[in-house]
Amino acid sequence: MRSQGHSRHRYFSFVLAIAAACSISVMAQPQSAKPLGIGRVATAQEIAKIDIDVRPDGKGLPEGKGTAAEGAKIYAAKCQSCHGANGIGGSADRLVDRESGKNWDFATNPKLVKTVGNYWPYATTLYDYTNRAMPFMQPGTLTPDETYALTAYILALNKIVPEDAVMDRATLPKVVMPSRDRFVIDNRNGGKIVK
Ligand code: HEC
Repeated sequence: MRSQGHSRHRYFSFVLAIAAACSISVMAQPQSAKPLGIGRVATAQEIAKIDIDVRPDGKGLPEGKGTAAEGAKIYAAKCQSCHGANGIGGSADRLVDRESGKNWDFATNPKLVKTVGNYWPYATTLYDYTNRAMPFMQPGTLTPDETYALTAYILALNKIVPEDAVMDRATLPKVVMPSRDRFVIDNRNGGKIVK
């Protein structure tokens, strides 16, 4: 028994020694080191180009603005072919619907379709997603003004903002989505799957 305990102890010391050695070697590497001798440090300009994320609180939103009326024209030209007139009935995801799912029975009723209007918790995500992923075949081609206008249009179609609302980096984070309070911290500790 004694020798077993002893060897286990040695095993753990060995693992710890490896872990310590690894972390020291990672930490000790200077920023400029090129272990494989390839690549270079990205420039601030290169990073800025792909640093496009917009957070729920609006952090990351660029300068610019747009209205639903402007968005309607852009939508007709760049989105309608897939998402249908007024965000309904296209081959791609439905973008408009506030009525269905009011009881939030998405988990139990598979017929319900989640949309910006009945499901999304943050309006800022609509900017972020449209900017990074749409139009589906040309992502990254929309200007900030176009993206704000499209965001205003889709929010207005869902009757979440008035038709004449101006969306920009100050107003968009203040939009409260109908489903905002449906999202809660998951503090379950076993028990029912659907809360
Ligand atoms: C070529 C077809 C096509 C075009 C054009 C297009 N989309 Fe999409 N869109 C899609 C597809 C497909 C998805 C689903 C993508 C996925 O789930 O990965 C989608 C998803 C979305 C979603 C997320 C819907 C949800 O509830 O998950 C939004 C918002 C959206 N598109 C907005 C737009 C806007 C705004 C435009 C115009 C600038 C646009 N789309 C143009 C095909 C298209």
